Amino acid sequence: MTTRFDALRQHRAATAGVTIAELFAAPDRAAQFSLSYGNMLFDYSKTQIDAQAVDLLVKLAQGAGVAEKRESMFSGAKINETEGRAVLHTAIRNLSASVIVDGHDVMPEVRAIHARCAAFANDVRAGRFTGQGGKITDVVNIGIGGSDLGPAMAYLALAPFADGPRCHFVSNVDGAHIADTLKGLNPETTLVIVASKTFTTIETMTNANTAKAWMAGKVANPAAQFAAVSTAQEKTAAYGIDAARVFGFEDWVGGRYSMWGPIGLSLMIAIGPEAFDDFLKGGADMDAHFQSAPFAENLPVLLALVGVWHNQICGHATRAVLPYDQRLSRLPAYLQQLEMESNGKRVGMDGADLPYDSGPVVWGEPGTNGQHAFYQLIHQGTRIVPCEFIVARKGHEPDLAHQHLLLVANCLAQSEALMRGRSLEEARAIMAKKGLTGAELERQARHRVFPGNRPSTTLAIPQLTPFTLGQIIALYEHRVFVEGVILGINSYDQWGVELGKELALALQPILEGTESASVKDGSTQQLVAYLRG
Ligand code: F6P
Repeated sequence: MTTRFDALRQHRAATAGVTIAELFAAPDRAAQFSLSYGNMLFDYSKTQIDAQAVDLLVKLAQGAGVAEKRESMFSGAKINETEGRAVLHTAIRNLSASVIVDGHDVMPEVRAIHARCAAFANDVRAGRFTGQGGKITDVVNIGIGGSDLGPAMAYLALAPFADGPRCHFVSNVDGAHIADTLKGLNPETTLVIVASKTFTTIETMTNANTAKAWMAGKVANPAAQFAAVSTAQEKTAAYGIDAARVFGFEDWVGGRYSMWGPIGLSLMIAIGPEAFDDFLKGGADMDAHFQSAPFAENLPVLLALVGVWHNQICGHATRAVLPYDQRLSRLPAYLQQLEMESNGKRVGMDGADLPYDSGPVVWGEPGTNGQHAFYQLIHQGTRIVPCEFIVARKGHEPDLAHQHLLLVANCLAQSEALMRGRSLEEARAIMAKKGLTGAELERQARHRVFPGNRPSTTLAIPQLTPFTLGQIIALYEHRVFVEGVILGINSYDQWGVELGKELALALQPILEGTESASVKDGSTQQLVAYLRG
């Protein structure tokens, strides 16, 4: 069967024997295979991509209709075809735009909600909105998936900018999560934000009920210390939350793309509306670049094309995201949802089976921690893991600049080591220096060989700020979009999460003992019997 990837696969087969190190014989390789955009540098020269591969990849994007689909997305067309929805997270960070959906401009409402969020955030921060025991000291955001990961990730990332109440994020239905979070908080000065696009998600509603009960014994009116973020306003009203503290958004903002709007309320309260707006500006800046730059100089397009090269062309099934920045420790988890919930699909837009693999498994941890854990496999395992490093020129701790330098040195060392490796001759020389000889030298040397020729990219930024974080998140969102268009899938639905939810509902009465487990398979019956104790 022929696929859209055939020309690239042929090129790959013809050039697979040329190592990355050999490609550096061309003196301008680093400059040719990197891209500066504004204040960022994306270096993809430590891959096996050559000029012809770039050419073929750009043609692939053009042939797949990326430009046309991009225009459709930004203009409000219903590109989420399986749910009949527009995909307009770009509209909620570009507040001066005008975007027409179903014949009317949606932006006045977007601006109004943004203004209401900002006013509420300012009221909480200034103590004009108080708890029943005084100024709000803590905000607990209860949400899961896209209603949790974005603000939770960004709250950590932007810690140097946080000057409001402390924020906490509860997602897991495991009671341990909310119990550990509420322990030590004062119910009289805690604001609970129930963040759920649908306001039906079982984890979120269960945790919200637990938080309400926790407050009930201590404050006269718990609901007065609750706010809600949701598209389902009749449900938030039924839950008893005053409409003045309900912040809505539309169904054309997907959960995993929603941190730019009211779902970011907890972050806005923590860092203030001004800094939050800088985050939006960073996102809008990346949108403008994505919409206007030619493909070969377009950061999101290039990131996507490098991803397609490694996954669909070279067959590397996973990708490690390795931020050399402790404050980006939740970025890999955030990207797991963004990329895997978006592009983990097995059929194309037309419902036919994909004749190639869908998006990669995305995983990672911050460096340098990962170095002392899983980098062993990355360097010497039998599978190749393309690595994506992220590093900032400057930290936020001027007194600890020497530690930042160490961090950067480690980041650069890893991509160099992955590319160069260490040959058997070099390993033998090291062992000989240690005094080993003969068969023992040979045996020990073989364990110390690094095959090298392992691909990585590095995204370098000036410093992690609200603006640069906005750029990075929008960059990854558009990368997912481009990959999705190239794969011919719908990146904006998530039917794959439904079956487990349905089965969990059916298992509840079985675990409670009100229904028999006999309808279940043998394994499930056995586990039910064990877990009921
Ligand atoms: O189960 C997956 C999912 O629907 C995600 O797509 C979403 O981000 C998350 O659950 C939370 O949904 P909600 O915001 O509606 O509670």
